[in-house]
Amino acid sequence: MATAFFLRTTLFHTFTLPTKPFSATCFPTKTHPFTLKATKMEGSEITEEEEVGVREKKKIFVAGATGSTGKRIVQQLLAKGFAVKAGVRDIDKAKSSFSDNNPDLQIVKADVTEGSIKLAEVIGDDSEAVICATGFRPSWDLLAPWKVDNFGTVNLVEACRKIGVNRFILISSILVNGAAMGQLLNPAYIFLNVFGLTLIAKLQAEQFIRKSGINYTIIRPGGLKNDPPTGNIVMEPEDTLYEGSISRDQVAEVAVEALIHPESSYKVVEIVARAEAPKRSFEDLFGSIKQR
Ligand SMILES: NC(=O)c1ccc[n+]([C@@H]2O[C@H](COP(=O)([O-])OP(=O)(O)OC[C@H]3O[C@@H](n4cnc5c(N)ncnc54)[C@H](OP(=O)(O)O)[C@@H]3O)[C@@H](O)[C@H]2O)c1
Repeated sequence: MATAFFLRTTLFHTFTLPTKPFSATCFPTKTHPFTLKATKMEGSEITEEEEVGVREKKKIFVAGATGSTGKRIVQQLLAKGFAVKAGVRDIDKAKSSFSDNNPDLQIVKADVTEGSIKLAEVIGDDSEAVICATGFRPSWDLLAPWKVDNFGTVNLVEACRKIGVNRFILISSILVNGAAMGQLLNPAYIFLNVFGLTLIAKLQAEQFIRKSGINYTIIRPGGLKNDPPTGNIVMEPEDTLYEGSISRDQVAEVAVEALIHPESSYKVVEIVARAEAPKRSFEDLFGSIKQR
């Protein structure tokens, strides 16, 4: 009897319950990681037990995953051991962007203008955090920035609230609050707002996030470049930087590191890269910014 019970429990699977989440992170896991063990049999003899499973990975939903920064965020998340649910408008385009059939990558259709109920369904109860890397695509629709960069982001936050996701990382932009910074005549501020008040749309979304109660990190990069990094990351508090640029690789890195470092919680950080800047750890970078 005791042998039969032993065989039944060990033949099929043995779960070792978790002792801690898989990384020191700033937000709790929803599902517990576990180790799956299988038992090998020869005839009726149990010969050995071997680990065949891996700990369950934290899944991160990335909105705008086919964008130039979104793609890099997906790649870096996968490289750092996360599972990714890539929210995209065009599944075929996404499949060609991410062609390596990574089992930790799931591609789902997600248009942020379609409302929070639909978004809540696709984000689902298996996502631990949302990274928003969307940005309107230029078109004849002058309201596109408002629809995507303001309402779309608000929809994502509302979707998170509906399903209890409490971690949100937004890729915004320096100069969103340019008017308050005395940068009304900054050519970048004028240029970006000429096209559908893009910076103002982003600022509105930021304000919504900050009032929502969600644990946020708002990342405001300077001008984005596809080239690999040429300098070290400079991180400053909100409404500080009004010029400068940064590689999209580094923006993606900051977004992923924000997930890992609790020092990034409830903060707005502005980032550019400068060749002469010293290399600093992410603890130091995020830790040097005060919560407001
Ligand atoms: N360009 C700069 O110098 C600069 C500077 C500072 C901040 N930023 C901000 O940084 C972010 C990333 O910029 P980027 O240049 O890397 O982005 P990007 O390449 O323009 O990608 C934008 C992404 O947003 C997606 N998107 C557009 N409308 C959408 C909708 N209705 N629903 C869901 N997704 C939608 C696009 O989907 P598709 O792939 O299907 O089109 C694309 O994946 C943006 O918010 C941008 O405003 C840019």
